[in-house]
Amino acid sequence: MTPAPGTPLLQLRDLRVSFGPETVVHIGGLDLREGEFLGLAGESGAGKTTAGLTVLGLTRHTGAHVTGSVRLSGEELVPAPERRLRQLRGSVMALIPQNPAAAFSPVLPVGTTMLRALRLHGGTRAEARRRAAEAMERVGLPAGHLSRFPHQLSGGQSQRTAIALASALGVRLLVADEPTSSLDVTAQAQICALLADLRSAHGTAVLFISHHLALLAGLCDRIAVLHRGRVVEDRPAADLVTAPRSDCARELLAALPGPDGVRGTGTAGA
Ligand SMILES: Nc1ncnc2c1ncn2[C@@H]1O[C@H](COP(=O)(O)OP(=O)(O)O)[C@@H](O)[C@H]1O
Ligand SMILES: [Mg+2]
Repeated sequence: MTPAPGTPLLQLRDLRVSFGPETVVHIGGLDLREGEFLGLAGESGAGKTTAGLTVLGLTRHTGAHVTGSVRLSGEELVPAPERRLRQLRGSVMALIPQNPAAAFSPVLPVGTTMLRALRLHGGTRAEARRRAAEAMERVGLPAGHLSRFPHQLSGGQSQRTAIALASALGVRLLVADEPTSSLDVTAQAQICALLADLRSAHGTAVLFISHHLALLAGLCDRIAVLHRGRVVEDRPAADLVTAPRSDCARELLAALPGPDGVRGTGTAGA
């Protein structure tokens, strides 16, 4: 289906996700344009991961009840069959999970997972190998790492490999769920730079989930703040961090470590 011109890449409307009687996400409206970098912020338990996984059609496996609308290039995903979602996850959208090892099967060399994903698009085995090796080089890893198992990669290397796969697949939408929270500061900066590169090289839109507002401010065009599953603020990143309107955004800013690492002396109120 060809979307009407100007249709956002991703449109969420009246999206509710419940576990049993508890509704943990209720997003009235949220859009992401082609090539846009959107931060999804919020304190722990706000529903960020649930919202991100629901976009990819992954919460239905965890016992969640999902209603409302998730449209990707105009196509409605909430009622879509699993087969269609799997197809989209291998070609148009991908996840960089919070736990780096979770991106790849633990029992296969990461290159095998990558080749399988690439070959779903057709083409020869040799072409897929070449694209995988090129993608690894673009993220600064030797092609030889393709023969490693996930446990033989560091957290930062795993996240780079996941970004390499998304880039080789040419996905339009990447959902990155706290992709740097388990990494040291240097690896964190490298992963953020790679995601920014991916956006400028391929026009990939990124939904970057994090509770760290300063990190989001440096990367994102816009930031949406989630509080108890609802969007309480959705504004250009620079405006939001310099003049937060919601209590929730103010609290996230106040929780940032200051220059001396002391909490509460960060950019809040600056
Ligand atoms: N599979 C699940 N079953 C039951 N409750 C869940 C499940 N996943 C998440 N939740 C609940 O949904 C709420 C939001 O969680 P989550 O999306 O992980 O928040 P965040 O990523 O912002 O920390 C929490 O109250 C959490 O306990
Ligand atoms: Mg989470």
